[in-house]
Amino acid sequence: MFDNVHIEPTDESLGEATAAARAEEFDAFVAVGGGSTIDTAKAANLYSCYPADLLDYVNLPIGKGLPVPGPLKPLIAIPTTAGTGSETTGVAIFDFVKMHAKTGIAHRRLKPTLGLIDPENTRTQPPAVAASAGLDVLSHAIESYTALPFHQRPRPERPILRPAYQGSNPISDVWSLESLRLVSIYLERAVRDPSDDEARGSMMLAAAFAGIGFGNAGVHLPHGMSYPVSGLVRGYRAPGYAVDHALVPHGVSVILNAPAVYRFVSSACPERHLRAAEILGAKVNGARLDDAGKILADRIVQLIRDLHLPNGLRALGYETADIPRLVEGTLPQHRVTKLSPRPAGPEDLARLFEESMLAW
Ligand SMILES: [Fe+2]
Repeated sequence: MFDNVHIEPTDESLGEATAAARAEEFDAFVAVGGGSTIDTAKAANLYSCYPADLLDYVNLPIGKGLPVPGPLKPLIAIPTTAGTGSETTGVAIFDFVKMHAKTGIAHRRLKPTLGLIDPENTRTQPPAVAASAGLDVLSHAIESYTALPFHQRPRPERPILRPAYQGSNPISDVWSLESLRLVSIYLERAVRDPSDDEARGSMMLAAAFAGIGFGNAGVHLPHGMSYPVSGLVRGYRAPGYAVDHALVPHGVSVILNAPAVYRFVSSACPERHLRAAEILGAKVNGARLDDAGKILADRIVQLIRDLHLPNGLRALGYETADIPRLVEGTLPQHRVTKLSPRPAGPEDLARLFEESMLAW
């Protein structure tokens, strides 16, 4: 048993887990926990089966982006939060401390062999964790649905070099939209009342459905921008999280960037933004396509307020002076930023961070 998983894993904590995985000859891995635990197990499985320098399998341009050489040991993932969807994806995310930025390893061979999705396992999830994780689900669903379409991405030289995140596609759309429908009905109920079994169970399914959606289509700017927001954290303590260090929960760092992003990218696929807003309960009758991003953004801000999340990046301790570093931490996140339906250069990103300072 390895119980030293770091909440929001780091290069160092993955190394520790890998060392534990190599200490004996194990047959299989069982990951019981949230995304941090499942991602740690994926990495420990990979680096114990195919020992290599950490950066070898890490995404370009931060790492070498080498494909996983062969099959890994069986991994059974048992999620205890309704957020990550990591039980369905071939992605492991960690904080590369030296760069103050999150990055990841993405390959279909990292996908768990089996996911056990049991609502009983989220019964004691604190409301703040349910809110943050649930907004991560919401963002997975919308980002994968609005990501650059698969046929507009560059074609890889060989199929094995095809990225795990391939752009929005008709099959991922089905999973993402159904996930969003569940989130719109059950998220607030699941946060408000942990004894609401129907809501909690539905949010676990929503997390897994969104995982299947974004695990194939990918996410884009809200996630790309979230990595430096988490990585550069100074003093912020997240209510409801039992940790003894500064931490911006993943879902919080994602969702606070989302409204500005959707206002910016919606011109690339306004119908999709309007559809997402409609599923979330916004009034879209007679709405102009030009307003699609704003309508979706306003609905998300309302959810952020209703779920008592911080009012923008400023509430996490960031100021305008931090923006250049936030932009610098976003630019290398090609795995996700290249999936933005509208390209975003450094000046665009700076403006998006500035608009994300205050949510309302
Ligand atoms: Fe996420």
